[in-house]
Amino acid sequence: MLDLKLKFKPSTDGRRNWMSPSPLTDLFWNVTRSCNFRCGICFTDSGTPAGGELTTEEALAAIDAAAAAGVRNIIISGGEPFLRPDIERLLEHMAGHDIVARIATNGSRLDDARLKRLKERTKVQSFQISVDSLNPDVYERIHGVSRRFLDKALDAMARIQIHGFHATASSRVTPDTLPGLSALMRHARDRGWATLTLHLPVPTRRSQDTFAEGADLMALLEPLLEEFAALEPRGVVETYIPWAEHHPVARRLSRRVRFTHRGCRAGRDRLTVGPDGALTPCVCLDVPEAVIGNIRTDDLRKVFAESPLCRLFRDPQGAGICSDCRHVGVCGGGCRASAWAASGSFHSLDRQCPLRRAAGCAPRPPSA
Ligand SMILES: C[S@@+](CC[C@H](N)C(=O)[O-])C[C@H]1O[C@@H](n2cnc3c(N)ncnc32)[C@H](O)[C@@H]1O
Repeated sequence: MLDLKLKFKPSTDGRRNWMSPSPLTDLFWNVTRSCNFRCGICFTDSGTPAGGELTTEEALAAIDAAAAAGVRNIIISGGEPFLRPDIERLLEHMAGHDIVARIATNGSRLDDARLKRLKERTKVQSFQISVDSLNPDVYERIHGVSRRFLDKALDAMARIQIHGFHATASSRVTPDTLPGLSALMRHARDRGWATLTLHLPVPTRRSQDTFAEGADLMALLEPLLEEFAALEPRGVVETYIPWAEHHPVARRLSRRVRFTHRGCRAGRDRLTVGPDGALTPCVCLDVPEAVIGNIRTDDLRKVFAESPLCRLFRDPQGAGICSDCRHVGVCGGGCRASAWAASGSFHSLDRQCPLRRAAGCAPRPPSA
């Protein structure tokens, strides 16, 4: 994900070189494609269940395999994870392996009884609830559902705090949501939410309502980041974007607010598991071309270490990507999912890269 996290209660610290080698520690698991929402820009094409979704027994076995492979953290997403009737059983099984879970949800299925059970029986640490906008018209347009779900999402944000979970709201940055992000950020601060995650849209699958190709999203977010920098108490901007550290907006603002740059972790310490067990390097790449195995049949550690696509994600420069750029080596070769979304090739350029913009490099033609 290309994320900027506005952290009101910074919990983690320290810098590590995100490009340095790491074992597999994390999974991003889309547990179902069923969804009660119809987001026009969803990168997983969710709505109706995918064919051949993992059965409960297969999902329990997948958790055993993940634990055996050294996975310590699982991000649960979908579709809407709480449409899986066995989701609590799966979370309890993860806890049995001491695996910490974080859940991305639209918040429509979180009541006190469920939150109490999850607190008592699982190692769920945090929830990230899609809010996107406080404006009911925008919320309806983005999520394709009635505005009453906005009230449910806000209610869920309050409840997860009461039950002692880390509370994050998320918004995709689109032309529709951008004007409301300032109000959402202030609401988040006033309500004591821990984090507001801003997803820069990756236009795989459905792609309407995003910005024109070539738009500089960090530049569009600069006024919001300025406002965040001026808030008291001071927060932290945590980025999960390969080139964010080198963007002029981040460089300018880092004199006024602390930035922590974590780059991209896809294929570097994590894999994504699809509803049918398909393994891909990156959650933004819910496309057959990115499938490198299946958790039903393949050894996770082996896929992670040996798949050519995972290797490409870990070392794009080694595959010649951006070798004509004098800044090669500082951005990790950019976002491979964005490259794919723009051109249909994993080897093409990430056109958002600010270093390339500044250097005025001519894009190399995509290779196979
Ligand atoms: C796919 S949703 C699934 C979980 C849950 N149903 C929900 O609504 O959050 C998980 C996260 O992906 C984000 N997301 C969906 N489509 C995206 C896109 N095209 N680009 C960036 N983020 C996206 C959503 O904002 C949400 O925070």
